[in-house]
Parts: sequence; C-alpha cells; structure tokens
Amino acid sequence: MRIEHLLKIIEKDPNFYPWSTEKDCVEFIATLIIITQSKIILELGTFLGYTSIYLLKSIPSDGIVFTVDILDQFYSKYFKLLSKKDKNRLTFIHDTTVNALKYKLNKITFDAIFIDADHEFKSCFSDFTYSLCHVKKGTILILHDALNEATPGVKQTINILKGINFIFKNSLFEIISFSTPPRKFNVPASGICIIKILSETTWLYFRLALLLFQIINLCIPNSPSVNIQSILEKHVSQFIKGKNIF
Ligand SMILES: C[S@@+](CC[C@H](N)C(=O)[O-])C[C@H]1O[C@@H](n2cnc3c(N)ncnc32)[C@H](O)[C@@H]1O
Repeated sequence: MRIEHLLKIIEKDPNFYPWSTEKDCVEFIATLIIITQSKIILELGTFLGYTSIYLLKSIPSDGIVFTVDILDQFYSKYFKLLSKKDKNRLTFIHDTTVNALKYKLNKITFDAIFIDADHEFKSCFSDFTYSLCHVKKGTILILHDALNEATPGVKQTINILKGINFIFKNSLFEIISFSTPPRKFNVPASGICIIKILSETTWLYFRLALLLFQIINLCIPNSPSVNIQSILEKHVSQFIKGKNIF
C-alpha cells in the first residue's frame, strides 16, 4: 500500500487521538529531517507507527528508520500493509527503549532521534542519556510534549539539559522549544524541543557532569543549593544510583 494512503487509514484509528503525534508536529519533524539531510533515524515510542511511516517519505531511498516500542500490537497491524520496499527501510524493535539503546542498536549512529516513549521524568531523562551513545556532531534530537502541562517530566529533562549545557558554556547542545497548536479546545498544546549536538564529545561531558553531581551528592549532602545541583540532587541522583549508568 502507498504510504500516503496508509497514513490516512492510521489517522482514522480510534486510538490515534490522543497518543499519536499530531500531524502538524510530524510534518515539522519531516521537514527538519529533509533540511538536515538526515538518513538514519531513530524513534523511541512507535505506537501506531504514524511518525515512523510518515518519515519514510522524508528520507532518501537509501535511508532507514528504526523505531522502538515495548508494545507491538498497535504497530504490527499497519506495518504489514507497507510495500516490501518500504518494509525494508523500517526496522521495528520490540523492547524497552533503554534495552534497545543499550543492547540492540550497538554501534549505530543516528542523524536524528525522536524521543516520544514514556514521558515520566526518569524515563525521558534516561532515554535522552542513553541516546547520547548514538549521536555525532550535528545529530538532532527531538522531544515531543516538551511544553505539555500534562507531561512535566519532559520539561524537567529539558531544564536539566539546559543547566548542564550552561555549565559547559553552552558548548554541548543548541536547544530550542516551540509551542504547537493545541489539538482540541481546552487540551494543552504538546510543544516540541529540538536539540542539536554541537560536539563529538558532548556525550562525554554530559556523563562527566552527571558523575560530578553524583559525587557532590555523596560527599556534601547538605551543600548550598546551586540551581542545577538542587534539581539534579532531587531527581537525577536517585536515578543514577538505581540504574548505574556509568
Ligand atoms: C506517545 S506514544 C508514541 C507516539 C508515536 N511516536 C507517534 O508518533 O505516533 C508512546 C509509546 O511509547 C511506548 N512506550 C512507553 N514506554 C516505553 C518504554 N519504556 N520502552 C518502549 N516503549 C515505550 C508506548 O507503548 C507507546 O506506544
């Protein structure tokens, strides 16, 4: 089936609203993919496959989209309707995002990564942190629901990234958030955040910052609260201790 036709069918799926990414955001992401000439794309959080299938239209014929979801029942019903040629350009990974990033996407470096799985702070932050193992200078990371009042964990993640970036004189990332049109009256707008990786060593400095805050937290539990430190102490240190990301 042609992609355009399949997308129209997905838009009519009873589950499309509110969990699928809205069409104007997907169009924006697709344009970003085109202008940055991205070829190798990763999506965290597939759901019905609306974004991953849409992005097949935006990448060149030798490009590839990887998409990860812990559930496959939604996605599989649409994936099987794709043409053989399109199926070959789309790889679905049925696992948690962290498992996929840690164990299944070994050595793959992406041009663009769309983070749209679990929106709780711990998950969103760990998705971002592990995604940094798969970036290079110029990779674009896109966070959906960046300004959504219903998903404060995404905004918290972005605030921490801004704080760590500030410590390194804004040399790690370029970060910009946009508000997006609300999908329905009285429903909060999602918002979208674009993060561009500025250096090949961004991942290293980011991890060093997390390690530093972990050490500060261990050595000086009652140290005077510096803005970023207090956020990290509150939200990140427990996560680091629990998940041992170093
Ligand atoms: C908001 S939907 C994704 C929408 C999709 N990106 C789109 O454009 O239509 C979030 C998806 O993330 C998946 N998800 C949530 N937590 C996850 C995790 N830890 N690992 C993998 N997938 C997860 C859910 O099963 C759900 O399908």
